[in-house]
Amino acid sequence: MKILNSILVLVAMVPVQRTFAAPAPEMESYRLIDRGDGTAPQRMKLKDAFRFSKSAHEGGRCAGFMDVTGQPEFKSAPPVPVESFKLKLEDRPLTQGMYLDSSLSLLDAGRVSETVKKLSSNRNRYYRSSYGVEAANWIADQFRAVSRNRVDVKVELFSHSWEQPSVMATIAGQGPHRNEIVVIGGHEDSINQSAFGSREMNAPGADDNASGIATVLEVFRVLIQSGFKPDRTMMFMAYAGEEVGLLGSQDIANRFRKDGKSVVAVMQLDMTAFPGAGNQVVFMTDNVSPELTKFSQKLMDTYVRVRWSTDRCGYACSDHASWNRAGYPAVMPFEATMSTDNKDIHTTRDLISKLDFDHGLAFMKLGLSFMSELSVE
Ligand code: BES
Ligand code: ZN
Repeated sequence: MKILNSILVLVAMVPVQRTFAAPAPEMESYRLIDRGDGTAPQRMKLKDAFRFSKSAHEGGRCAGFMDVTGQPEFKSAPPVPVESFKLKLEDRPLTQGMYLDSSLSLLDAGRVSETVKKLSSNRNRYYRSSYGVEAANWIADQFRAVSRNRVDVKVELFSHSWEQPSVMATIAGQGPHRNEIVVIGGHEDSINQSAFGSREMNAPGADDNASGIATVLEVFRVLIQSGFKPDRTMMFMAYAGEEVGLLGSQDIANRFRKDGKSVVAVMQLDMTAFPGAGNQVVFMTDNVSPELTKFSQKLMDTYVRVRWSTDRCGYACSDHASWNRAGYPAVMPFEATMSTDNKDIHTTRDLISKLDFDHGLAFMKLGLSFMSELSVE
Protein backbone atom coordinates (compact mmCIF):
# COMPACT_ATOMS: atom_id res chain seq x y z
CA MET A 1 0.00 0.00 0.00
CA LYS A 2 2.82 2.34 0.97
CA ILE A 3 4.61 1.51 -2.29
CA LEU A 4 1.47 2.08 -4.29
CA ASN A 5 1.07 5.45 -2.62
CA SER A 6 4.63 6.42 -3.44
CA ILE A 7 4.12 5.48 -7.07
CA LEU A 8 0.96 7.55 -7.21
CA VAL A 9 2.78 10.49 -5.67
CA LEU A 10 5.65 10.15 -8.15
CA VAL A 11 3.30 9.97 -11.11
CA ALA A 12 1.48 13.04 -9.86
CA MET A 13 4.77 14.92 -9.61
CA VAL A 14 6.00 14.30 -13.15
CA PRO A 15 4.21 17.12 -14.97
CA VAL A 16 5.07 19.51 -12.17
CA GLN A 17 8.77 18.77 -12.54
CA ARG A 18 8.58 19.12 -16.30
CA THR A 19 7.00 22.56 -16.04
CA PHE A 20 9.34 23.98 -13.41
CA ALA A 21 12.96 23.19 -14.21
CA ALA A 22 14.48 23.77 -10.78
CA PRO A 23 12.66 22.42 -7.71
CA ALA A 24 12.18 24.94 -4.93
CA PRO A 25 11.91 23.25 -1.54
CA GLU A 26 11.04 26.48 0.28
CA MET A 27 7.77 26.66 -1.68
CA GLU A 28 6.59 23.45 0.01
CA SER A 29 7.47 24.52 3.55
CA TYR A 30 4.84 25.61 6.05
CA ARG A 31 5.20 29.23 7.16
CA LEU A 32 3.32 31.58 9.47
CA ILE A 33 1.74 34.09 7.09
CA ASP A 34 0.30 37.44 8.14
CA ARG A 35 -1.70 39.01 5.33
CA GLY A 36 -1.26 42.40 6.94
CA ASP A 37 -4.96 43.16 6.61
CA GLY A 38 -5.83 42.91 10.31
CA THR A 39 -6.72 39.20 10.31
CA ALA A 40 -4.74 36.74 12.47
CA PRO A 41 -1.61 35.08 10.97
CA GLN A 42 -2.20 31.59 9.46
CA ARG A 43 0.02 28.55 8.89
CA MET A 44 0.20 27.71 5.19
CA LYS A 45 2.61 26.53 2.50
CA LEU A 46 4.70 29.32 1.01
CA LYS A 47 3.42 28.41 -2.45
CA ASP A 48 -0.17 28.93 -1.29
CA ALA A 49 0.71 32.35 0.06
CA PHE A 50 2.07 33.15 -3.42
CA ARG A 51 -1.03 31.85 -5.16
CA PHE A 52 -3.12 34.20 -3.06
CA SER A 53 -0.83 37.16 -3.75
CA LYS A 54 -0.53 36.47 -7.50
CA SER A 55 -4.24 36.06 -8.10
CA ALA A 56 -4.98 39.21 -6.15
CA HIS A 57 -2.44 41.17 -8.22
CA GLU A 58 -3.94 39.85 -11.45
CA GLY A 59 -7.37 40.81 -10.25
CA GLY A 60 -6.12 44.37 -9.90
CA ARG A 61 -6.27 44.19 -6.11
CA CYS A 62 -2.82 44.14 -4.67
CA ALA A 63 -2.31 41.77 -1.81
CA GLY A 64 0.93 40.62 -0.31
CA PHE A 65 1.84 38.83 2.83
CA MET A 66 4.29 39.10 5.65
CA ASP A 67 6.07 35.85 6.52
CA VAL A 68 6.32 36.24 10.31
CA THR A 69 7.59 32.69 11.01
CA GLY A 70 9.83 32.83 14.09
CA GLN A 71 9.58 36.62 14.38
CA PRO A 72 8.82 38.21 17.76
CA GLU A 73 5.93 40.57 18.41
CA PHE A 74 6.63 43.71 20.44
CA LYS A 75 3.83 44.80 22.72
CA SER A 76 5.64 47.64 24.54
CA ALA A 77 6.67 51.03 23.16
CA PRO A 78 10.04 51.43 21.40
CA PRO A 79 13.07 53.05 23.12
CA VAL A 80 12.24 56.46 24.59
CA PRO A 81 14.26 58.72 22.23
CA VAL A 82 12.30 57.34 19.27
CA GLU A 83 8.95 58.31 20.74
CA SER A 84 10.06 61.79 21.81
CA PHE A 85 11.76 62.47 18.47
CA LYS A 86 8.56 61.55 16.65
CA LEU A 87 6.48 63.88 18.78
CA LYS A 88 8.84 66.79 18.14
CA LEU A 89 8.74 66.34 14.36
CA GLU A 90 5.81 68.68 13.92
CA ASP A 91 7.74 71.70 15.25
CA ARG A 92 11.08 70.72 13.81
CA PRO A 93 12.50 73.64 11.80
CA LEU A 94 14.17 72.96 8.45
CA THR A 95 17.81 74.02 8.65
CA GLN A 96 19.58 72.47 5.66
CA GLY A 97 18.50 74.94 2.98
CA MET A 98 22.05 76.14 2.34
CA TYR A 99 23.47 72.64 2.10
CA LEU A 100 20.63 71.43 -0.13
CA ASP A 101 20.84 74.47 -2.39
CA SER A 102 24.22 73.32 -3.57
CA SER A 103 23.93 69.55 -3.20
CA LEU A 104 20.51 68.76 -4.74
CA SER A 105 22.00 69.69 -8.11
CA LEU A 106 24.70 67.04 -7.64
CA LEU A 107 22.07 64.28 -7.90
CA ASP A 108 22.52 62.59 -11.25
CA ALA A 109 19.53 60.83 -12.81
CA GLY A 110 21.81 59.44 -15.54
CA ARG A 111 23.88 57.60 -12.95
CA VAL A 112 20.75 56.12 -11.39
CA SER A 113 19.65 54.94 -14.82
CA GLU A 114 23.05 53.23 -15.32
CA THR A 115 22.73 51.47 -11.95
CA VAL A 116 19.23 50.24 -12.78
CA LYS A 117 20.50 49.01 -16.16
CA LYS A 118 23.27 47.04 -14.48
CA LEU A 119 21.10 45.53 -11.73
CA SER A 120 18.26 44.58 -14.10
CA SER A 121 20.53 43.03 -16.72
CA ASN A 122 21.27 40.07 -14.46
CA ARG A 123 18.95 37.07 -14.70
CA ASN A 124 17.38 37.75 -11.29
CA ARG A 125 18.11 38.89 -7.74
CA TYR A 126 16.07 36.11 -6.14
CA TYR A 127 16.79 35.68 -2.41
CA ARG A 128 17.88 32.04 -2.77
CA SER A 129 19.85 32.24 -6.04
CA SER A 130 23.55 32.83 -6.67
CA TYR A 131 22.51 35.85 -8.77
CA GLY A 132 20.80 37.29 -5.72
CA VAL A 133 23.99 36.88 -3.70
CA GLU A 134 26.07 38.46 -6.49
CA ALA A 135 23.73 41.45 -6.59
CA ALA A 136 24.12 42.00 -2.83
CA ASN A 137 27.92 41.87 -3.16
CA TRP A 138 27.80 44.28 -6.09
CA ILE A 139 25.72 46.76 -4.07
CA ALA A 140 28.17 46.50 -1.15
CA ASP A 141 31.04 47.17 -3.59
CA GLN A 142 29.33 50.37 -4.81
CA PHE A 143 29.01 51.67 -1.23
CA ARG A 144 32.69 50.81 -0.63
CA ALA A 145 33.96 52.40 -3.83
CA VAL A 146 32.29 55.73 -3.05
CA SER A 147 33.48 55.86 0.58
CA ARG A 148 36.99 54.35 0.24
CA ASN A 149 38.83 57.09 2.11
CA ARG A 150 36.27 57.71 4.88
CA VAL A 151 37.09 56.22 8.30
CA ASP A 152 33.61 57.12 9.58
CA VAL A 153 31.91 54.83 7.02
CA LYS A 154 31.34 51.09 7.46
CA VAL A 155 29.87 48.70 4.88
CA GLU A 156 28.54 45.35 6.12
CA LEU A 157 26.65 42.31 4.91
CA PHE A 158 23.84 41.19 7.24
CA SER A 159 23.44 37.39 6.99
CA HIS A 160 20.11 35.62 7.16
CA SER A 161 18.98 31.98 7.17
CA TRP A 162 18.90 31.96 3.31
CA GLU A 163 21.62 32.68 0.75
CA GLN A 164 21.22 36.41 -0.05
CA PRO A 165 22.55 38.80 2.63
CA SER A 166 21.19 42.29 3.19
CA VAL A 167 23.62 45.19 2.77
CA MET A 168 24.11 48.05 5.26
CA ALA A 169 26.31 51.13 4.91
CA THR A 170 26.71 53.38 7.95
CA ILE A 171 27.95 56.97 8.22
CA ALA A 172 28.77 57.41 11.90
CA GLY A 173 27.18 60.40 13.62
CA GLN A 174 29.48 62.91 15.30
CA GLY A 175 27.19 64.59 17.85
CA PRO A 176 25.88 63.77 21.34
CA HIS A 177 22.89 62.01 19.69
CA ARG A 178 25.03 59.73 17.55
CA ASN A 179 23.29 56.70 19.06
CA GLU A 180 20.16 57.80 17.17
CA ILE A 181 19.82 56.39 13.68
CA VAL A 182 18.20 57.68 10.47
CA VAL A 183 17.62 54.98 7.83
CA ILE A 184 16.95 55.04 4.10
CA GLY A 185 16.51 51.73 2.28
CA GLY A 186 14.79 49.51 -0.21
CA HIS A 187 14.75 45.84 -1.17
CA GLU A 188 17.44 44.40 -3.38
CA ASP A 189 15.74 41.13 -4.33
CA SER A 190 13.52 40.50 -7.35
CA ILE A 191 11.01 37.81 -8.27
CA ASN A 192 9.05 36.39 -11.17
CA GLN A 193 5.77 35.30 -9.64
CA SER A 194 5.08 32.76 -12.37
CA ALA A 195 8.31 30.86 -11.79
CA PHE A 196 7.52 29.42 -8.34
CA GLY A 197 10.91 29.65 -6.70
CA SER A 198 13.15 28.58 -9.60
CA ARG A 199 16.68 29.86 -9.00
CA GLU A 200 17.04 30.42 -12.74
CA MET A 201 13.92 32.57 -13.11
CA ASN A 202 14.04 35.62 -15.36
CA ALA A 203 13.20 38.53 -13.05
CA PRO A 204 14.82 41.81 -14.14
CA GLY A 205 13.03 43.89 -11.48
CA ALA A 206 14.05 47.23 -12.99
CA ASP A 207 11.29 49.22 -11.32
CA ASP A 208 10.78 46.68 -8.50
CA ASN A 209 13.21 47.48 -7.03
CA ALA A 210 16.46 48.30 -8.84
CA SER A 211 15.02 51.84 -8.98
CA GLY A 212 14.85 52.17 -5.18
CA ILE A 213 18.31 50.66 -4.62
CA ALA A 214 19.85 52.93 -7.26
CA THR A 215 18.23 55.92 -5.53
CA VAL A 216 19.64 54.91 -2.14
CA LEU A 217 23.12 54.54 -3.69
CA GLU A 218 22.86 57.97 -5.33
CA VAL A 219 21.80 59.71 -2.11
CA PHE A 220 24.75 58.04 -0.36
CA ARG A 221 27.16 59.14 -3.12
CA VAL A 222 26.10 62.79 -2.94
CA LEU A 223 26.28 62.88 0.88
CA ILE A 224 29.81 61.46 0.77
CA GLN A 225 31.06 63.56 -2.13
CA SER A 226 29.67 66.78 -0.64
CA GLY A 227 31.51 65.96 2.61
CA PHE A 228 28.34 65.94 4.75
CA LYS A 229 29.11 64.99 8.38
CA PRO A 230 25.92 64.01 10.25
CA ASP A 231 25.30 64.49 13.98
CA ARG A 232 23.06 61.40 14.12
CA THR A 233 24.13 58.11 12.54
CA MET A 234 22.91 57.47 9.01
CA MET A 235 22.25 53.99 7.63
CA PHE A 236 21.66 52.94 4.01
CA MET A 237 20.06 49.53 3.58
CA ALA A 238 19.43 47.03 0.80
CA TYR A 239 17.08 44.38 2.20
CA ALA A 240 17.15 40.75 1.09
CA GLY A 241 14.05 38.58 0.67
CA GLU A 242 11.34 41.26 0.59
CA GLU A 243 9.40 39.59 -2.23
CA VAL A 244 8.82 36.45 -0.17
CA GLY A 245 7.29 38.12 2.89
CA LEU A 246 9.50 41.06 3.99
CA LEU A 247 12.00 38.58 5.42
CA GLY A 248 15.24 40.59 5.42
CA SER A 249 13.79 43.81 6.79
CA GLN A 250 11.97 41.92 9.55
CA ASP A 251 15.22 40.24 10.64
CA ILE A 252 16.93 43.65 10.73
CA ALA A 253 14.16 45.74 12.33
CA ASN A 254 13.45 43.09 14.98
CA ARG A 255 17.17 42.68 15.75
CA PHE A 256 17.52 46.45 16.16
CA ARG A 257 14.52 46.48 18.46
CA LYS A 258 15.90 43.61 20.58
CA ASP A 259 19.24 45.44 20.82
CA GLY A 260 17.38 48.58 21.97
CA LYS A 261 18.57 50.71 19.03
CA SER A 262 17.02 54.15 18.62
CA VAL A 263 15.96 54.33 14.98
CA VAL A 264 14.24 57.72 14.81
CA ALA A 265 13.19 57.71 11.14
CA VAL A 266 13.06 55.27 8.21
CA MET A 267 12.39 56.07 4.56
CA GLN A 268 11.41 53.14 2.32
CA LEU A 269 12.05 53.44 -1.42
CA ASP A 270 10.34 50.67 -3.36
CA MET A 271 9.51 51.55 -7.03
CA THR A 272 10.48 55.13 -7.84
CA ALA A 273 10.68 55.56 -11.61
CA PHE A 274 7.38 54.64 -13.30
CA PRO A 275 5.27 57.80 -13.68
CA GLY A 276 1.89 56.05 -13.73
CA ALA A 277 0.05 59.10 -12.41
CA GLY A 278 2.34 61.68 -13.99
CA ASN A 279 5.18 63.37 -12.16
CA GLN A 280 3.88 63.10 -8.60
CA VAL A 281 5.00 61.41 -5.41
CA VAL A 282 2.36 59.33 -3.64
CA PHE A 283 2.68 58.81 0.13
CA MET A 284 1.26 55.55 1.41
CA THR A 285 -0.77 56.14 4.56
CA ASP A 286 -0.98 52.63 6.03
CA ASN A 287 1.75 50.88 8.06
CA VAL A 288 3.62 54.20 8.34
CA SER A 289 4.12 57.04 10.84
CA PRO A 290 1.67 59.91 10.16
CA GLU A 291 4.13 62.36 11.81
CA LEU A 292 7.07 61.33 9.63
CA THR A 293 4.86 61.31 6.54
CA LYS A 294 3.73 64.86 7.26
CA PHE A 295 7.33 65.94 7.78
CA SER A 296 8.32 64.36 4.43
CA GLN A 297 5.47 66.20 2.69
CA LYS A 298 6.95 69.42 4.07
CA LEU A 299 10.28 68.43 2.51
CA MET A 300 8.44 67.94 -0.81
CA ASP A 301 7.00 71.47 -0.66
CA THR A 302 10.23 73.10 0.49
CA TYR A 303 12.96 71.36 -1.48
CA VAL A 304 11.59 68.94 -4.07
CA ARG A 305 8.73 71.08 -5.39
CA VAL A 306 6.98 68.23 -7.15
CA ARG A 307 3.28 67.51 -6.68
CA TRP A 308 2.36 64.89 -4.07
CA SER A 309 -0.75 63.01 -3.00
CA THR A 310 -1.68 60.05 -0.79
CA ASP A 311 -2.97 56.49 -1.23
CA ARG A 312 -3.10 53.21 0.70
CA CYS A 313 -1.42 49.91 -0.05
CA GLY A 314 -4.12 48.14 1.95
CA TYR A 315 -1.69 45.52 3.24
CA ALA A 316 1.93 45.20 4.40
CA CYS A 317 3.23 45.91 0.89
CA SER A 318 6.91 46.63 1.57
CA ASP A 319 9.71 46.88 4.14
CA HIS A 320 8.37 50.00 5.88
CA ALA A 321 5.78 47.61 7.42
CA SER A 322 8.60 45.64 9.11
CA TRP A 323 9.95 48.79 10.77
CA ASN A 324 6.47 49.96 11.67
CA ARG A 325 5.65 46.59 13.25
CA ALA A 326 8.85 46.81 15.34
CA GLY A 327 7.68 50.22 16.63
CA TYR A 328 9.85 52.51 14.51
CA PRO A 329 8.55 55.52 12.49
CA ALA A 330 8.60 54.85 8.73
CA VAL A 331 7.50 56.67 5.57
CA MET A 332 6.79 55.22 2.12
CA PRO A 333 6.82 57.62 -0.86
CA PHE A 334 5.73 55.73 -3.98
CA GLU A 335 5.95 56.31 -7.76
CA ALA A 336 2.22 56.26 -8.59
CA THR A 337 -1.21 55.60 -7.17
CA MET A 338 -2.20 51.97 -6.62
CA SER A 339 -4.54 52.07 -9.60
CA THR A 340 -1.93 53.58 -11.96
CA ASP A 341 1.14 51.61 -10.83
CA ASN A 342 3.44 49.53 -13.02
CA LYS A 343 1.48 46.40 -13.99
CA ASP A 344 4.60 44.60 -15.25
CA ILE A 345 6.34 44.11 -11.89
CA HIS A 346 7.12 40.48 -10.92
CA THR A 347 7.30 39.52 -14.63
CA THR A 348 9.97 39.37 -17.35
CA ARG A 349 8.64 42.73 -18.57
CA ASP A 350 9.76 44.82 -15.58
CA LEU A 351 12.37 46.53 -17.76
CA ILE A 352 14.20 49.85 -17.72
CA SER A 353 12.51 50.88 -20.99
CA LYS A 354 9.31 51.64 -19.05
CA LEU A 355 11.04 53.96 -16.59
CA ASP A 356 11.55 57.71 -16.47
CA PHE A 357 14.42 58.98 -14.35
CA ASP A 358 13.20 62.57 -14.39
CA HIS A 359 10.32 61.20 -12.34
CA GLY A 360 12.87 59.24 -10.30
CA LEU A 361 14.74 62.48 -9.54
CA ALA A 362 12.00 63.61 -7.14
CA PHE A 363 12.76 60.56 -4.95
CA MET A 364 16.51 61.26 -5.02
CA LYS A 365 15.83 64.84 -3.89
CA LEU A 366 13.41 63.72 -1.21
CA GLY A 367 15.89 61.12 0.05
CA LEU A 368 18.75 63.62 0.24
CA SER A 369 16.57 66.20 2.01
CA PHE A 370 15.33 63.55 4.46
CA MET A 371 18.77 62.24 5.36
CA SER A 372 20.39 65.66 5.77
CA GLU A 373 17.54 67.36 7.67
CA LEU A 374 16.91 64.50 10.11
CA SER A 375 20.53 63.72 10.89
CA VAL A 376 21.36 67.18 12.26
CA GLU A 377 20.54 68.05 15.86
N1 BES B 1 7.04 46.79 -4.63
C1 BES B 1 6.08 45.84 -4.25
C2 BES B 1 4.90 46.44 -3.50
C3 BES B 1 3.96 47.29 -4.28
C4 BES B 1 3.50 46.89 -5.52
C5 BES B 1 3.50 48.46 -3.72
C6 BES B 1 2.60 47.70 -6.20
C7 BES B 1 2.59 49.24 -4.38
C8 BES B 1 2.14 48.85 -5.64
C9 BES B 1 6.71 44.80 -3.34
O1 BES B 1 8.01 44.45 -3.71
C10 BES B 1 5.88 43.54 -3.40
O2 BES B 1 5.74 42.96 -4.42
N2 BES B 1 5.32 43.16 -2.29
C11 BES B 1 4.51 41.98 -2.22
C12 BES B 1 4.22 41.74 -0.79
C13 BES B 1 5.32 41.04 -0.06
C14 BES B 1 5.12 41.17 1.42
C15 BES B 1 5.41 39.58 -0.45
C16 BES B 1 3.20 42.16 -2.95
O3 BES B 1 2.76 43.29 -3.14
O4 BES B 1 2.62 41.15 -3.31
ZN1 ZN C 1 9.07 46.00 -4.35
